[in-house]
Amino acid sequence: MITYEQIEKAIDGVAERMNRDFEGCTDVPVLLCILNGSILFTAELMKRLDFNVELVSMKLSSYVGTSSTGKIRQVMGMTGDIKGKRVIIVEDIVDTGNTIVDLDRIVREKGATQVKICTMLLKPAVYNKPLKLDYVGMEIPNDFIVGFGLDYDEVGRNLKDIYVLDPDPDYHVVQQADNTQNASHMKYYILFGPPGAGKGTQATAMVEKYNLRHISTGALLREEIAAGTELGLKAKALIDAGALVPDEVVEGMIENLFAKVKDVDGFLLDGFPRTIAQAEALDSILAKKGEKVTSVVSIMIPDDMIKERIRHRAAIEGRADDASEDTINNRIKTYHDKTEPLIDFYKKAGKYAEIEGTGTIEQVRESIFTLMDKF
Ligand code: AP5
Ligand code: MG
Repeated sequence: MITYEQIEKAIDGVAERMNRDFEGCTDVPVLLCILNGSILFTAELMKRLDFNVELVSMKLSSYVGTSSTGKIRQVMGMTGDIKGKRVIIVEDIVDTGNTIVDLDRIVREKGATQVKICTMLLKPAVYNKPLKLDYVGMEIPNDFIVGFGLDYDEVGRNLKDIYVLDPDPDYHVVQQADNTQNASHMKYYILFGPPGAGKGTQATAMVEKYNLRHISTGALLREEIAAGTELGLKAKALIDAGALVPDEVVEGMIENLFAKVKDVDGFLLDGFPRTIAQAEALDSILAKKGEKVTSVVSIMIPDDMIKERIRHRAAIEGRADDASEDTINNRIKTYHDKTEPLIDFYKKAGKYAEIEGTGTIEQVRESIFTLMDKF
């Protein structure tokens, strides 16, 4: 999973940042090696530090098999006094963060004047503590890994590179017994494109093939209108004018669905986000869950084709916002003014992928599948 060369590079980066932060320090900070996992990391890190450090070790036991017990036991006390000193806790890996939170508390109780936290690896998908991690070597997915100090039942610490544990049947049995290592990344795809590009049309096949939940904010709002809810009444005037409903309304809908929907591999967001503010809100909703947008799948067609397709759909579906030429023109204008800037937003984030939407429904579907098979 991670080669020795990549590990070395990550440690170089951590050491560089640490050297910068402690440059010219007159005290002798403590490097607190958390045994056994961080023994190799601590050794490699120490070699690269330009300031004086005192090495103190301590051992905790927190794993049984491949499962985190959730509680930590302090098995072996500290090998040195940390009272009145600045302490850098050196961990091999931080996942849920239970261990590091306890360590931070223990170190403060023992009289450290300042605590910095350093970890070689971080699983951002499952880390759910507010505690700031000062130095992170590398972020990794939520897999069970061995090597470079990390073990599986005490075996594998001597491996130079880091490996994902082979998921054999026994391994699954252990995993099911305790879910703490089971949280996994969900996929969050944004299905992007102007009105009438074919988002709704393509969504059906996409959700089926990739086991996703389709969320169309437009369809949800139309359901509210049909049900005559207060929200629906407010949204109707805006939708019929070809304008957008307020950001908070759709953001709330999305967050509720993320919390409710389980048993899928991810979500396909159709028509959301539609403004930069919504895109930023989505990022923070996902960040709270330790998740990220996977990719934008953008279907592009020119403006004259938008009108042609919507006129055709008006005759079949009778959507209120398809009925008048003025509304259609306003929707196109709203798209160019408010939604199109998202293309640059997601290009900068390295998440934008575009599909030519002018072909037949089948051709467009094939291009989407070819693209998504790569994710
Ligand atoms: P929404 O329902 O999302 O409408 P939209 O973005 O304008 O997109 P459409 O649903 O019209 O087009 P589509 O891309 O799904 O195309 P379709 O597959 O149907 O939103 C409606 C309104 O709700 C907004 O205007 C706004 O007011 C509000 N709203 C929604 N989300 C919001 C948000 N996040 N924030 C604020 N307000 C929000 O295809 C169109 C037609 O073309 C169909 O007839 C189809 O059969 C045909 N077709 C599709 N592909 C092809 C092809 N390849 N060849 C030939 N025909 C094709
Ligand atoms: Mg649609």
